[in-house]
Amino acid sequence: MTNLEITICVGSSCHLKGSRDVIKILERLISLHRLEDKITLKGSFCMGECSKNGVCVCVDNDRFNVAPLDTELFFNDVIMKRIK
Ligand code: FES
Repeated sequence: MTNLEITICVGSSCHLKGSRDVIKILERLISLHRLEDKITLKGSFCMGECSKNGVCVCVDNDRFNVAPLDTELFFNDVIMKRIK
């Protein structure tokens, strides 16, 4: 299994769009799936994507924009596929 690095923007614009909630939801899903050893969560300052909808999230080198409500879908669609 690969070790995946997920970076969540905690810059002011993403903070307002719910980056804290995105982080909380990701933490909960990671522990639910017992993936603590496989996934590293990091915070980052503004990644220059403030104009997009949702919180800027970087998985390895790919960028996504994730709203809190979409976090679980994002986890299942993007994260789980990269873990396998
Ligand atoms: S604050 Fe997150 S991309 Fe700018």
